[in-house]
Amino acid sequence: MLDLTQQYQKIAAEVQAAITRVCRSQQFILGAEVRQLELSLARYTGCEHGIGVSSGTDALLLALMALGIGQGDEVITSAFTFFATGGTIARVGARPVFCDIDGDTFNLSPARVEEFIARECEVRGEGPVRQVIHRSTGGRVKAIMPVHLYGQVCEMDSLMDIANRLGLHVIEDAAQAIGARDGTGQMAGSIGHIGCFSFFPTKNLGAFGDAGLCTTSDRGLAERMRILRVHGMEPKYHHSLIGGNFRLDEIQAAVLNVKLKVLDEWRDGREAHARQYAERLKKSAAAGAVVLPVASEGGHHVWNQYVVRAQRRDELRQYLAAAGVGTEVYYPIPLHLQRCFAYLDYRTGQLPEAERAAHEVLALPVFPELTPAQIDHVAGTIQRFYMAAVAPSQHSF
Ligand SMILES: Cc1ncc(COP(=O)(O)O)c(C=O)c1O
Repeated sequence: MLDLTQQYQKIAAEVQAAITRVCRSQQFILGAEVRQLELSLARYTGCEHGIGVSSGTDALLLALMALGIGQGDEVITSAFTFFATGGTIARVGARPVFCDIDGDTFNLSPARVEEFIARECEVRGEGPVRQVIHRSTGGRVKAIMPVHLYGQVCEMDSLMDIANRLGLHVIEDAAQAIGARDGTGQMAGSIGHIGCFSFFPTKNLGAFGDAGLCTTSDRGLAERMRILRVHGMEPKYHHSLIGGNFRLDEIQAAVLNVKLKVLDEWRDGREAHARQYAERLKKSAAAGAVVLPVASEGGHHVWNQYVVRAQRRDELRQYLAAAGVGTEVYYPIPLHLQRCFAYLDYRTGQLPEAERAAHEVLALPVFPELTPAQIDHVAGTIQRFYMAAVAPSQHSF
């Protein structure tokens, strides 16, 4: 599914030199490497500020805290995402509002968000002092947290339009989407008020451990995030805010500074693999056995994951494993049906696209160092599975 050893071999000398530099400096937290990474990634994403943090989860937490979101507030987000998206909203004491996804892109559907607001909310006031009150819970909707799932930017034009109309903040969960662009050419993480990135090792830009970053072009928010990152401390031992320890360490930043130089090259590799899969899986797709991922027109998908919908997904997964092919299911249970969110009272069937995706999605290997022969092997194995199993005309979702 993912072999990071080949990537490491190519950059080993430079990474080791960078780590040695940190060891010699004996400066381990929020030093020159972190500052360099923050500047480089702000520039890369087209934002004015970058704030390095300890993980993607902490980036989301910090963004929510900086926007003052907490008890009595609600945040609209996708039901089909990694747990951290919904988990952080709940951790600051706010209520996650899960909306359904678009069946083609797996991203939060602006139409479903509009529907939720029109059906369940009362909008009070005018302009920036508008309040969006969730009628059945009494909570104030404060923000939208779209997730650029698998490396593809959400329909941000429509989501920003909703947010601007209603005076909501937008926190982009860009954990999987560094370098991705929307149809207007804007980079993931630069469109909303705050962008949140993860550098977990499986991400396109992966650290040697946990790391993350917030981006923003709002100077006030940047300042607040920098202070909240160190326990709300400014100046030393004076705490005007209650923050946390969200600090990024120098060794992770040093590794990321080296890897950032190769990020676009790796992205191009992933893109070439996605094209090859689309070609090699054409027959299986035409037979209705799999549905290939849809890259929105004009945008730039960075293929952190190449995810198909597959009929009899779990059997296919086993068949691929027997042929030496690793796969993954991102994600088998949508957030609204997770046990820890039972208190939110969602029911099975309520968000049908997220639930259908959870039963059908299968992520295939797409890391840059894969060879064309390996991709042929994956696609050929998929084709053999369906040919051996049933006649193509019997496939239906
Ligand atoms: C969509 C999404 N959000 C948030 C996160 C959390 O990032 P991290 O694992 O760095 O805390 C991840 C990473 O796994 C993710 O994929």
